[in-house]
Amino acid sequence: MVKQHTVTITDNASGKSIECPVYEGTHGHPVIDIHGVTKELGFFTHDPGYATTSSCSSTITYIDGEKGELLYRGYPIEQLAEKSSYLEVCYLLLYGELPNAEQWEDFKNFVKRHTMVHEGIRRFLAGYRPDAHPMGILVGTVGALSTFYHDALDVHDPDHRNFSAIRVIAKMPSIAADAYKYSIGQPFMYPINSLGFVENFLQMMFAVRAEPYVPNPVAVRALELMMILHADHEQNASTSTVRLAGSSGANPFACIAAGCATLWGPAHGGANEAVINMLQHIGDPKTIPKYIERAKDKDDPFRLMGFGHRVYKNYDPRAALIRQACHDLLNDLDSGGSLGPLFDIARTLESIALKDDYFIERNLYPNVDFYSGIILSALGIPLNMFTVMFAMARSVGWISQWTEMMEDKDLRIGRPQQLYVGAARRDYVDMSGRK
Ligand code: SDX
Repeated sequence: MVKQHTVTITDNASGKSIECPVYEGTHGHPVIDIHGVTKELGFFTHDPGYATTSSCSSTITYIDGEKGELLYRGYPIEQLAEKSSYLEVCYLLLYGELPNAEQWEDFKNFVKRHTMVHEGIRRFLAGYRPDAHPMGILVGTVGALSTFYHDALDVHDPDHRNFSAIRVIAKMPSIAADAYKYSIGQPFMYPINSLGFVENFLQMMFAVRAEPYVPNPVAVRALELMMILHADHEQNASTSTVRLAGSSGANPFACIAAGCATLWGPAHGGANEAVINMLQHIGDPKTIPKYIERAKDKDDPFRLMGFGHRVYKNYDPRAALIRQACHDLLNDLDSGGSLGPLFDIARTLESIALKDDYFIERNLYPNVDFYSGIILSALGIPLNMFTVMFAMARSVGWISQWTEMMEDKDLRIGRPQQLYVGAARRDYVDMSGRK
């Protein structure tokens, strides 16, 4: 951070003024260091939802909401989507640079050695009801990882932090696939390390021991794209949760479990499941205008799921890439028949909404979740696994942000203030004196 200049904040009631330093980053809005507002003027700043608050400085991901730009360690998402792989993006997000040939081989082998999960975890899963939502299984299982892998949990030891990060990257696909297999009553599959990272996940999800399984290369490429696009996204709700949990010194698996729990909400990572439910509920393109009106009605809780974003006030670049992949995939796979109508409803909904003043005035565009559910459905992923897929892909972003925070020598526990609007100080009233 480079100090650029200062801004003057004046309390007109007391006439007192302070100079607050302004810092400039590489890209994006400069920030005001407002510590003096409390120390000198006695105020807290008030920003429910943190819409205008910078919670940290980070070198990992940058979003330009006006331009619809997304960079991972400075590389545009469009270039990574076209040229990279999810596992290479994991290296980039975690270590900050693209790997050379030797680093790449070492990293792939390190990850491969940790793709299996402790057999006790599979017995742990047996405690869940068969109809348990896979996200409930994921939150519980990831939270329990520290009880199986307690040999490298010193959060102040860089080698322990790196080992835990590799374990998260390597084991999330196995845990996600186990949650699915458990929910359909099929035997668990084991990783096959001769396969690529995404192929390995697909075989753990869809292979059965009775038959050989060869992942469809079109499906592998589509899922690789999805995972790259979901890998990280600045200080979104779930990443901020991981950071806040980690600031207390909690172990990395507990922090990732907290991130999974936050992502589950329909306003966040649960939106991909909610979009498909919405498209199926709409059913007929002719009813779309009715739903658009409902989404605009303040008295109606209905919202267009997959629309709107806290940061993107232009098209979410991930949505554009996923829409094109949807189109290509539905043409390639025979599942286009059952999903074609949903894709048609999605595109019709998008075109109508983007011409409507309500959405234009509020900069409401399709976000990453609007089309992602269609691709996941085309890949045979069931609806209740959609957010698990998002969590699996985002786990590298979470653990990279956690690592960056734990390396910060100025790290302090996160502890926001509040504006108290409750009862004024008053004395206890005995039962006899109560009305
Ligand atoms: C993700 O932060 C990230 O980076 C998240 C994410 C990531 O990669 O981590 O990108 C992933 O979570 C994407 C978002 C998925 N969620 C949804 O698709 C759910 C539907 N979207 C909304 O719930 C909402 O748009 C949010 C939560 C995404 C953003 O909410 P904000 O920034 O708090 O915006 P807001 O609720 O204040 O809305 C501003 C206005 C309001 O109207 P007015 O009060 O100004 O009249 O826009 C309206 C809202 O009512 N609005 C919508 C709408 N989203 C906002 N109206 C109808 N349909 C919608 N979807």
